[in-house]
Amino acid sequence: MALLNDIEPLKQSALTELKNAPDLAALEQTKGAWIGPHGKFTALLKQLGTLSKEEKPAAGKAINAAKAELEAALAERRSELELKAALPKEPIDFSAPGRRRALGKLHPLTQVTEDIVRSFRKIGFVVADGPEIEDEYHCFDALNTPADHPARDTQDTFYLAKPENSQLPASNSYLLRTHTSSVQIRVMEKQKPPIRIIVPGRCYRRDNADATHNPTFHQIEGLYVDKGVTVGDLKGTVEFVFKEVLGVETKIRFRPHYFSYTEPSFEIDFSNALVKKLGKEWLEIAGCGMVHPQVFENVGYDPEIWTGWAFGFGIERIAMLRYGINDIRLFYENDVRFLKEF
Ligand code: DAH
Repeated sequence: MALLNDIEPLKQSALTELKNAPDLAALEQTKGAWIGPHGKFTALLKQLGTLSKEEKPAAGKAINAAKAELEAALAERRSELELKAALPKEPIDFSAPGRRRALGKLHPLTQVTEDIVRSFRKIGFVVADGPEIEDEYHCFDALNTPADHPARDTQDTFYLAKPENSQLPASNSYLLRTHTSSVQIRVMEKQKPPIRIIVPGRCYRRDNADATHNPTFHQIEGLYVDKGVTVGDLKGTVEFVFKEVLGVETKIRFRPHYFSYTEPSFEIDFSNALVKKLGKEWLEIAGCGMVHPQVFENVGYDPEIWTGWAFGFGIERIAMLRYGINDIRLFYENDVRFLKEF
């Protein structure tokens, strides 16, 4: 039977060609030439019809077996060639440096905050926290800031709608805290004196963003309550921390000021080489004072027994000075090229 005898030599030639195809394109062509619709092997299948009934089964079986072998050879050569195509054309330089995964870093504001907190921890302060969604009472009233005070203006403060099921009395409303001072009240409401806390946190004001303002910013609040606390304690503490954070040659001075929750109140100015580089002698950095007796009354502390001081300052301001940054908005853009600098 001629057909049956043709199968083996045809298969051998096809196998040789498939195995030796030099690339993927040549392989596809070879495939077409043998087992495509017009391929030489396919032609054999078509001749099956011309065979007698007795010859057909054996021939059909042989052809199918040979075809399966060719398809397996095709698949094997294809994966070989695909792998070869994926390999680099040039020889690899094994001494070249690898591609490193870049390590992340702490944000400069976080670094400054951690430095300040670390410094306060050395002298016995602990970190306290409070809600960023505050209410008017804790942000203003309890801090002795009257309802007609400009700080409460809708121009300065983001007020929030009161939910229907709110527990808050009608006279009180929700807002985004404008300073971390509200946490003074939250802590004193819950804890008995003495108190030594530091409160880093995010604050919000209705400011338009420019080089020195941003509607979201960060503050650090400090509160110290004990018996017989003096302005001298306040000054000594502030001086210790500022020298740690901004350098030993840093000088500070207190200027009289007004805050409704402290009496007397001061603004703190500092001076060092950085400030002089800006062409100034002193730079205002923080507000502070002795806790107002009314604030103690509001939280149920007896002002005849307890005394204390508080301060608050902006973290961005310190970070800008420390790193020589001239636009506050850079802190919030999360541009990796900026963040990598610190
Ligand atoms: N809360 C003030 C502000 O946002 C800063 C401040 C001043 C905080 C005096 C205090 C303080 O605790 O005693 O500008």
